[in-house]
Amino acid sequence: QIAEKGGFPHYMLKEIYDIPSSLISSFSSLMEKYLSLAAMIVYGAKNVYVIGNGTSLHAGFISSYYFSEVGINVNVVSAAEFPYYALQNVSTGSVIIAISQSGETSDVIRSVKMAKLRGAVIVGITNSVGSRLALESNIYLPITAGPELAVPATKTFTSTLVVLRTLSIYTGLNSGKKDRKDINEFKENLEELSKNLLSRLPQMERQAEEVISKVEKESLYITSSGINFPVALEGALKFKEAALTHAEGIQLGELLHGPIALTNKGYPIVIVKPSEAQADDLYNKVIRSVLDRGSPVITVSPEGDIKSLETSRDLSPISNVIPLQLMAYKLGVKRNLPIDTPPGLVKAVVS
Ligand code: AGP
Repeated sequence: QIAEKGGFPHYMLKEIYDIPSSLISSFSSLMEKYLSLAAMIVYGAKNVYVIGNGTSLHAGFISSYYFSEVGINVNVVSAAEFPYYALQNVSTGSVIIAISQSGETSDVIRSVKMAKLRGAVIVGITNSVGSRLALESNIYLPITAGPELAVPATKTFTSTLVVLRTLSIYTGLNSGKKDRKDINEFKENLEELSKNLLSRLPQMERQAEEVISKVEKESLYITSSGINFPVALEGALKFKEAALTHAEGIQLGELLHGPIALTNKGYPIVIVKPSEAQADDLYNKVIRSVLDRGSPVITVSPEGDIKSLETSRDLSPISNVIPLQLMAYKLGVKRNLPIDTPPGLVKAVVS
């Protein structure tokens, strides 16, 4: 069985080690003509909704920072809430960017069908060619991360970000906020990140194991700000699935408005250093406040307790999520849990 997992004890760990190569395959599998078409449609849309569930929804949240940078405000909504919150404003001229690794998640398919009936154009992003989402989409952008078998999604999250970032840059060609050299620059940054990750993953894995005793509590906070805030949400989801630990992802600034009260109980706090320099003061203030209350702090950054890789702002969520994935994985291993198949969970929620 270990042989099937490429020598790794679990699919989750194997799939984290697949990330460096899948980042590149995801980028190079995108076809210029479909990207350009999707970008033109997004740019010309009356309104744009990004929908998905779980990890795919978190990738969607990050895309709102990508699209905002090129002058487009998108509404990111859970596919489970979309029918109640957003559908009334969907009509001809609306665009739905629907994200689903499996392409089979019922909430996504249901929302896509409802939006189509109201005249929306669907840009589908999925890892599964021939899935229901691929078939329902007007334009389909593949994730191309390779098969992901562990229930806790890892490499499909990072590859979905590659697809969304590429689409946003192409959208920026229409809005005049980006030009062709930005595509090349993104490609170069991605290649560098992939190369560095390949050599640094074993070290990250060791660091994750070392800090695990600090987060081994009944509950923990994961926090960040800016483009890395959704990374905190995603890290918390990984702790729930792989380590069966309650974890809450929270915005750095919001922590001071109540949740910090619980750090008196010794709840640990994992802080992903924001990429935006404007958040530096807040970052330092939160660390001081939490330490003053006697709670453990684990920082994730290129200089942190667990070191992510130095990279561009748009790629920082990829660099920062990996240490969180590894920490959740290591805690699951320590607790001897069925990491790839957490109790009561399935890979795709189809009904
Ligand atoms: C991620 O680790 C979870 N297994 C889950 O939240 C998942 O992302 C969600 O069910 C959506 O799945 P999909 O991307 O296949 O639609």
